[in-house]
Amino acid sequence: MLITARYQFMYVCLCHGISETRLQQAIHEGARSFEQLQSCTGVATCCGACEPCARQMLDTETLASRAPAPQAS
Ligand code: FES
Repeated sequence: MLITARYQFMYVCLCHGISETRLQQAIHEGARSFEQLQSCTGVATCCGACEPCARQMLDTETLASRAPAPQAS
């Protein structure tokens, strides 16, 4: 699927070559704070330019995992 392929290679952190997919994986594996995300991926540990995006991803993914399952109709 074209959209999925493009999505997998979107870089969040250029200093360390960390993709959006890698951050999502770390969040799904249990990173629940920005510090945990930094520790397990290295994101935002050089210039810090990627920090706002990484924090936003953490918030978005964490909220999505807490969302109730859709109701069957
Ligand atoms: S872009 Fe992530 S630390 Fe520089």
